[in-house]
Amino acid sequence: MAKQADLLRQWIEEKTGEATRDVLKNRIEGSRVMAVTSGKGGVGKSNLTLNLAMALADRQQRVVVLDADLGLANINIMLGYEPQYTLWDVVQEKVPLRHTIQPGPHGIRIIPGGSGIAQLAALQSVEISRIIEGFQELEGECDWLMIDTGAGISANVLSFVLAADEALVVTNPEPTALADAYGLIKAVWESSGSVSLKLVMNRVVQKESALQMGERLTTLSQRVLGRPVEFLGMVSEDGNVARAVLRQEPFWSLYPRTAASQDVGAIADRLLDRIPPPKRGGWGAFVRRLTHTWSALEDSGDSQKKGSV
Ligand SMILES: Nc1ncnc2c1ncn2[C@@H]1O[C@H](COP(=O)(O)OP(=O)(O)O)[C@@H](O)[C@H]1O
Ligand SMILES: [Mg+2]
Repeated sequence: MAKQADLLRQWIEEKTGEATRDVLKNRIEGSRVMAVTSGKGGVGKSNLTLNLAMALADRQQRVVVLDADLGLANINIMLGYEPQYTLWDVVQEKVPLRHTIQPGPHGIRIIPGGSGIAQLAALQSVEISRIIEGFQELEGECDWLMIDTGAGISANVLSFVLAADEALVVTNPEPTALADAYGLIKAVWESSGSVSLKLVMNRVVQKESALQMGERLTTLSQRVLGRPVEFLGMVSEDGNVARAVLRQEPFWSLYPRTAASQDVGAIADRLLDRIPPPKRGGWGAFVRRLTHTWSALEDSGDSQKKGSV
């Protein structure tokens, strides 16, 4: 423990300034950090993140959504607004992270990512630290930090996943999506992540066979990797999801009774049921794990990984 703390302090002193150092002093209590991620792209991460955030908000939770699909961010597009500032401005040190926060529907708050910015997709760890420096300002202001990550197993994506308390691994019943979900789960275990993984099966037409496929995946993870992945729930294939995307409004508010909304509501209930409020830690723990991940990546001397964190 002491060694890890020393490493972190050293890393912070080398890589960042006063502000990040203060993160350790101002530890945030009570925030649950949950990444929403996937192996394959286009499986429904952003829709799940946004609508689940709203479902949690409707259950009296204070939620901040971080759009961390760096370079391809689209939460703001799903809501039909152009943010004044994005993470790109934070990285460029134009504005503090707090100034990028946008009020969203049902009281959620959103930290917009930048879209179409190649440099954002290839951030260095020191640049991501600027984003983290802003995190401390949100101390005590939220119950959930939800992170909509990019797809795949790049160091950039894994950093966010490994730093979170929970990660929802989104897949659909297609073999390619299932295989990529397994690849992601494997990559997380190989990075010895302590993040708790939960599977969400999206776009379900036949519940029984989707359940079987999900269980096959969680059983395989348990058997081969020796770590459990909880099957959190399913979201139905629902034409109203695409309709809502086209109208640039969340389906949660546009079609509150549609199947997808009911499923997302059930997932929110299950999360509140299964994930106890965090003990002391929250943001502080998130920052510690994130910086530790970077140290490990840098120690491993994997320059390709290092460059894309
Ligand atoms: N439950 C669903 N039912 C029907 N279509 C869906 C569902 N979830 C997602 N989609 C479709 O998939 C598209 C991609 O979803 P999105 O959330 O942007 O994926 P990702 O963030 O993983 O790339 C949506 O625009 C929508 O058309
Ligand atoms: Mg997305």
